[in-house]
Amino acid sequence: MSDLPALEKSALEELRACSDEQALRAWNSKYLGDNGAIKLALKKIGSLPAAERPAYGQQVNRVKQTLDQAHQEQEGKVKQTELERALATETLDVTLPGRPVARGRLHVATQTMRQILAIFADMGFQVYRSREVEDDLTNFELLNMPPHHPARDMWDTFHTTTPGVLLRTHTSPGQIHVMRELCPEPIRVVLPGMCYRYEQITTRSEIMFQQVEGLAVGTSITMADLKGTITSFARRVFGAERTIRIRSSYFPFTEPSIEVDVDCILCQGSGCGLCKQTGWLEIMGAGMVHPVVLKNGGYDPDKFSGFAFGMGPQRITMLKYAMTDIRLFWGNDLRFLQQF
Ligand code: PHE
Repeated sequence: MSDLPALEKSALEELRACSDEQALRAWNSKYLGDNGAIKLALKKIGSLPAAERPAYGQQVNRVKQTLDQAHQEQEGKVKQTELERALATETLDVTLPGRPVARGRLHVATQTMRQILAIFADMGFQVYRSREVEDDLTNFELLNMPPHHPARDMWDTFHTTTPGVLLRTHTSPGQIHVMRELCPEPIRVVLPGMCYRYEQITTRSEIMFQQVEGLAVGTSITMADLKGTITSFARRVFGAERTIRIRSSYFPFTEPSIEVDVDCILCQGSGCGLCKQTGWLEIMGAGMVHPVVLKNGGYDPDKFSGFAFGMGPQRITMLKYAMTDIRLFWGNDLRFLQQF
């Protein structure tokens, strides 16, 4: 039993000499560690005669507690000295530049959207916001697509659990909302916003995308107004030298219906990869508002006429920057986003 007081004494002496954390750590493993003196003493209990074991065991535990506590106290002292030293010697250089805050920016789709809205604002079109959750009636029926109309296949969408309530497949139902709100006043609006389609996601199509709809209603609006409006729009976005091409098309809510191309911004119309050798880039669908739609909006088609168009600003962005994958827009890849 005689080894314990000596052990305690020398341990405490050595501890007092520890003046930094490294020395403390070494002391700790020497006396309190897995292979330290205390562990060794505990192991020794088994080899003692049975009568001596309890007393010896108690002694070891008492010494262990003493050393534990002394170690804690010494550690506190060392830390305090360390701190005082650091405060005295290390000074803070307040003239160093701070850590820069990363600057954010508008998403490229938002940039294009704002540019488009600004161009139409210059031509007198006001922005009209319309809901993304629509009903079947407004998304289809009032746009001249009764329940079994085959054109509905072009616009398959996501349905909610409430029958007849769905995510709009295009911004065109906004036409109905504007007309019903403003009738019988003349209308000149653009309707921006998100649209949804139940589609395979590919490099060219997403299930969620933006559109900008345009609508003009008045007493003497003709196809010439539509043509002029689209031409000046295309020239503002793609350059003053652009020309447009109009092809006949079909939409249930316009009559006649057209699709509009702009001559290729890369090859100026001679044919290249961007325009797939056609010389033309498709930018929107449009037409004269169908009499049934005018009537559904509250306007007398014998007195009023109008034009409408719809385009995808993301597609416009892709053409502008010769991008080939529409999935990049919502992919959240900074390497893409930081280019704009
Ligand atoms: N809504 C049509 C579409 O999503 C585009 C369009 C709008 C066509 C207005 C004509 C008039 O494809």
